Amino acid sequence: MSAPLLSVRDLSVTFDVPRKGAMPWTPPQKLRAVQDISFDLKAGETLGVVGESGSGKSTLARAVIGTIPASSGRVVWQGTELTGLSVAARRKHRAEVQMVFQDPLAALNPRMTVGEIIAEPLRTHRDVTRDEARRASQEMMERVGLLPNLVNRYPHEFSGGQCQRIGIARALILEPRLLICDEPVSALDASVQAQVVNLLRRLGREMGLAMIFIAHDLSVVRHVSDRIMVMYLGRKMEEGAAREVVGAPLHPYAKALISAIPRPDPTRKRARIALEGELPSPLAPPSGCVFHTRCPVARPDCSAGAPALAEPAPGRMVACPYHSEPVRAAVNS
Ligand SMILES: Nc1ncnc2c1ncn2[C@@H]1O[C@H](COP(=O)(O)OP(=O)(O)OP(=O)(O)O)[C@@H](O)[C@H]1O
Ligand SMILES: [Mg+2]
Repeated sequence: MSAPLLSVRDLSVTFDVPRKGAMPWTPPQKLRAVQDISFDLKAGETLGVVGESGSGKSTLARAVIGTIPASSGRVVWQGTELTGLSVAARRKHRAEVQMVFQDPLAALNPRMTVGEIIAEPLRTHRDVTRDEARRASQEMMERVGLLPNLVNRYPHEFSGGQCQRIGIARALILEPRLLICDEPVSALDASVQAQVVNLLRRLGREMGLAMIFIAHDLSVVRHVSDRIMVMYLGRKMEEGAAREVVGAPLHPYAKALISAIPRPDPTRKRARIALEGELPSPLAPPSGCVFHTRCPVARPDCSAGAPALAEPAPGRMVACPYHSEPVRAAVNS
């Protein structure tokens, strides 16, 4: 078996959050945004990461790419451990891993032309002339479905969907091996979302890209992903092949998320599992299984100890010992 492109092992990220109204010498509170996350990604593979707002998806992405430090754990990129490397040593790897962000317009420098924006990584990382950079931008514009003669326009002259295409072109100009897409279509109109998702899928295939595709909307993630990881309050709840996780989810949280995906055919209703209560504060997560306060099948012992990740089938992981319990649907939608 070939070695994974990316190996993440027991990665945790903790933020220090100052206590409100406290004296400056009072120690800050610890917010565990990501806790003990492990996964592998093969070349050309797409991992979808889903979970409600605040589940730690963006923090995980930023720790993988190295823009925020991990508190513990390892990120191994093509056999080289990145955690602990100096910024200079990471620079070489930075070109191989690129990101696409949620808010396309905000991610683009308003004072640069589209051509300059797309070519900037090329000019930073490679020794290219202005003309070569411009030509490369125009080629990339064509690949992402933008007219190359718009190379001298500014970002505000483009629609949201087009701005996201510019962001994708910029991310791909260095021909990375991994593209991390953090909610790449959440800010776009529904009609444009599908176009951008399809573009990412096509480019991923053509360029042999591995992708980490983050979204809170499972209906988007399942169309792009080979595997899906479900996160809740910074922890991995479930992981497996996309078809299996969507078709037969194991964890009660994954079951609830999947039951909320609207069906294209309104006559075939899906029994929806309603989750009780609010997402707990990550500053004071519930004891034991962090999901137990909202879990429809929680038992008294779920608040005692955090469940270990079990592997009920090869490549399938679930952090719930009671995953075979049926979850009663509360609402029909
Ligand atoms: N720089 C920071 N300082 C303190 N806390 C942070 C910081 N960044 C994120 N957090 C907290 O970490 C937790 C995880 O945040 P994160 O942005 O990773 O979640 P997310 O899953 O990406 O959510 P969303 O779907 O809203 O983008 C949240 O509770 C958030 O408030
Ligand atoms: Mg996020």
